[in-house]
Amino acid sequence: MKSFALLALLPAFLSATSASAAVSPSSIKKVNTLPTVANKFILEVDTLANIPTKRSFKRSLDAVYASLTERAVQYEVRKEFEVDGVFVGASLTINDAKDVAAVENTPGIKAVRPIRSFKIPVLKEKHVLTGPNDPKLPPTTLSTHIMTGVDKLHAEGNNGKGIKIGILDTGIDYNHPNLGGAAIGSNSLVIGGYDFVGDDYSGSSEPIPDPDPMDCNGHGTHVAGIIAALPGNDFNMSGVAYGAKLNAYRVFGCSGSVTEEVLVDALLKGYRDGNDILNLSLGGADGWAASSSAVVADRLADRGMIVAIAAGNDGDEGSWYSSSPGNAYDAISVASVDNVVIPLQNATVHGVTHDPITYYETFPLPVEGVLPVYATSKDTTVPDDACYPLPDDTPDLSSYVVVVRRGSCNFVVKLMNIAAKGGKVTLIYDNGSGFAPISVGSYTASLIQAASGEFLVKQFAAGVPISLSFPQSGGSTNYPNPAGGLVSSFSTYGPSNDFHFKPAVAAPGGGIVSTMPLAQGGFAVLSGTSMATPFVAGVSALLLSAKGKSPAVAKAARSLFETTATKLPSSYSDNDPLQTLTQAGAGLIQAYDAVHATTIISPSELVLNDTAHFKGFHTFTVKNTGKTAKKYKLRHSPAGTAVTVRPGTIFPALGPVPQVKNAASVSIIPSSFTVRPGQTQVVVANFRPPTGLDAKTFPVYSGFIDVVSESENYHVSYLGLVGSLKDKQIVDNTDAYFGFPVPAILDAEGEIQTGATNYTFADGDWPSFIWRLTFGTPALRIDLVDANINLKPTLNSRALHLPPFFTFRPGGKGGSFAKVKTIGPLASFDYITRQGELDDGYNLLNLETPVFANGTTIPDGSYRVLIRALRVTGDASRQEDYESWLSPIVGIQNKL
Ligand SMILES: *[C@@H]1O[C@H](CO)[C@@H](O)[C@H](O)[C@H]1NC(C)=O
Ligand SMILES: *[C@@H]1O[C@H](CO)[C@@H](O)[C@H](O)[C@H]1NC(C)=O
Ligand SMILES: *[C@@H]1O[C@H](CO)[C@@H](O)[C@H](O)[C@H]1NC(C)=O
Ligand SMILES: *[C@@H]1O[C@H](CO)[C@@H](O)[C@H](O)[C@H]1NC(C)=O
Ligand SMILES: *[C@@H]1O[C@H](CO)[C@@H](O)[C@H](O)[C@H]1NC(C)=O
Ligand SMILES: *[C@@H]1O[C@H](CO)[C@@H](O)[C@H](O)[C@H]1NC(C)=O
Ligand SMILES: *[C@@H]1O[C@H](CO)[C@@H](O)[C@H](O)[C@H]1NC(C)=O
Repeated sequence: MKSFALLALLPAFLSATSASAAVSPSSIKKVNTLPTVANKFILEVDTLANIPTKRSFKRSLDAVYASLTERAVQYEVRKEFEVDGVFVGASLTINDAKDVAAVENTPGIKAVRPIRSFKIPVLKEKHVLTGPNDPKLPPTTLSTHIMTGVDKLHAEGNNGKGIKIGILDTGIDYNHPNLGGAAIGSNSLVIGGYDFVGDDYSGSSEPIPDPDPMDCNGHGTHVAGIIAALPGNDFNMSGVAYGAKLNAYRVFGCSGSVTEEVLVDALLKGYRDGNDILNLSLGGADGWAASSSAVVADRLADRGMIVAIAAGNDGDEGSWYSSSPGNAYDAISVASVDNVVIPLQNATVHGVTHDPITYYETFPLPVEGVLPVYATSKDTTVPDDACYPLPDDTPDLSSYVVVVRRGSCNFVVKLMNIAAKGGKVTLIYDNGSGFAPISVGSYTASLIQAASGEFLVKQFAAGVPISLSFPQSGGSTNYPNPAGGLVSSFSTYGPSNDFHFKPAVAAPGGGIVSTMPLAQGGFAVLSGTSMATPFVAGVSALLLSAKGKSPAVAKAARSLFETTATKLPSSYSDNDPLQTLTQAGAGLIQAYDAVHATTIISPSELVLNDTAHFKGFHTFTVKNTGKTAKKYKLRHSPAGTAVTVRPGTIFPALGPVPQVKNAASVSIIPSSFTVRPGQTQVVVANFRPPTGLDAKTFPVYSGFIDVVSESENYHVSYLGLVGSLKDKQIVDNTDAYFGFPVPAILDAEGEIQTGATNYTFADGDWPSFIWRLTFGTPALRIDLVDANINLKPTLNSRALHLPPFFTFRPGGKGGSFAKVKTIGPLASFDYITRQGELDDGYNLLNLETPVFANGTTIPDGSYRVLIRALRVTGDASRQEDYESWLSPIVGIQNKL
């Protein structure tokens, strides 16, 4: 899930940790890569009563259209959104940037938001199951239900009956026998839905809606099964809430992206159709909660819908990368935990009695017959086994299983040396305690554990005739995943830039068996954070089913999930801390405990914020809703402190984000007490931030206050930052990413402009601005200023084609910011994310025609470009709170 469909990647820069990847500026494709879709906007309008008009209108939208027409604004209405009390507005195309000022001054417009676009969720792993004997079928498909207590709720007869869940995704194959096996209708499992886009929709093409949300991608059908697949199939799998009913809102074509205008439409339809729960399969790194889809998702949650949205798959990008719409304040942003088992293969041992040997493959190695073992070294401590050509006296290895020890050289080097002697099948045994997939190129080879290898080598050395075979079916084994029950490495790290608690909770997301469209085989195993969110939607259905549908139950759901979740370790080593809450949220969801909780704690999240806005004093309440008095003991349980910025740099630490154990301290008063049934106790928690940390690495500390009674465990979660967000540099002013310093202007030749340069705008002679952000900003301003401006920028290192790119600029008027004399804006962006280090790494804006952001032609002359980024928590009207960068002189000599 990536935020912007418009972004082109630069594969050459993939290694952000390596030294400068020097890149020739002229190799950069001069394509606009900007955070928003060009010339389309979503307006939100006021209620009719609040719009001053001379004529009378039935709808506030009509009043606004009339004003726009009066002002001679050229606009085209694309879609209208009308759910009173939630969201009333429209998406418009505005082709002429000259209309910006008129739109901004039109009464009745509450907000003009640019449109973002989100990519179709990527299937991390996909294997279509061939039948119940498929070697890749995890032996117990219900492990995720057992990890979370869903099995116990099923045993009580709770399967989510009576609950309606809306799924915004790629559609559902409702003909699948386990998803109803019938046309959509009130007696089926899929009771309704809509296709907002059509098969061919790509995200940039025009949607062609139709009533039939049939799935041609597979993603939506798989996740629909995680929520609600009916039991009774060869794979023994069922959904978390197989008694619930589904509405399928298809927002993706068979592939491609979706823009927010489709999403807002689908969210509002999901609301009007009376769904109790909405599950959203999309999002992109954002860091803020200001986008239209996040705003609408938040309002729905506020009205008592449970809205579950993925936290994102960007764990490798590090912290402060939370996605939208999952950032919506009241949505449940869901992290992923690895399943407890990995389906692997066993080889059978012949010649001696010994247990099968597990090798790290999900499919059997394609090897027939029983092959004798040959070890390239009889020494099980050899550091460089087969790293050099094998000795001349090596036999022809073509009929053996070759066993070789890991170490000192690349696997492929060993395999090449073995192949040189005819070897075709190799098992590499680990030289430590490792057991993980390895890369072996096109060789038939796999990893086994050290003990297995040492056993084989010792038998070989002793002259025992030992051989192995590789069963082509029935060899599947349920290997306990060493990382099982830990947060998936791909799960995105928060918090959001305004320090909201994102993600909220985690659910199983890896190695999940579920339904696929019949045309794609019917069942498949998929892995990815995408699988965790429908799990939470399913658990939400079980909760509503047990407690009754009401806005009160829905609004309390997230707190209940958070306070009853199980705390997640960062590893299974004894001395490691609990996993930072910036990736794990409050822990792994526990469905049974949430439904049966008899202690209600509120609030469930304590935000201590940054040093400048430190809030160390909190109160929360503990209510006993059980039938007997309960004695509670409270204690502090710190989790890891995430060191979010690489020491000595302005760049985010990539995932897995390093964690240290410097923890906050807290006094809890009272720390033990008894609460009678129906009574509530107020608790005061007073925190002191951890010491010994470097504020320049922006360490985020986190943890829990455990609330423990004789038979129950609950917790309140907290999050704080040592350091102030206002001190975090936003604009990258180094050469670390490209090998040349940014921000920069690329000239007509694609070279970096160093001295004063004139641009004629004829024959491609125009400037391109290129910049990167190392942290999100509430406001990025790109202005043209006088060449001789008297301004000392804080940085400086050691849009506009047919139709031109233009932007609106709300607020931020007055103060010292306004005192900086600008000639006119070129572009502005609000609430945008930082750049990825691995992906989506930069922004580029082409000034192909010499116009300001409002479309007015820039008079010929000599200027500079001023880029300003507002620091997080800064005051938009204070110039001091912005970083600034001033370009060399840009001469405009318009020959167009
Ligand atoms: C199939 O599911 C039932 C519960 O529905 C369980 O008792 C049984 O062990 C499962 N079998 C396998 C092979 O997973
Ligand atoms: C696979 O091998 C492991 C290790 O010997 C053994 O514990 C397990 O039972 C085997 N699994 C099957 C299905 O034979
Ligand atoms: C094992 O081999 C790897 C290279 O594959 C090497 O980096 C590591 O140091 C070795 N470990 C031991 C314990 O020999
Ligand atoms: C943290 O503090 C900033 C600055 O006052 C504020 O804007 C933000 O909302 C706070 N975050 C939370 C979650 O309270
Ligand atoms: C539910 O949301 C998750 C994550 O947002 C997504 O990956 C999944 O596809 C959705 N499920 C369905 C059935 O649409
Ligand atoms: C840009 O054009 C102006 C007007 O023709 C001229 O005075 C100036 O010297 C030119 N600057 C450069 C760097 O070529
Ligand atoms: C457009 O912006 C420029 C620069 O800020 C300004 O001088 C001009 O008056 C604006 N034009 C309109 C029509 O608002």
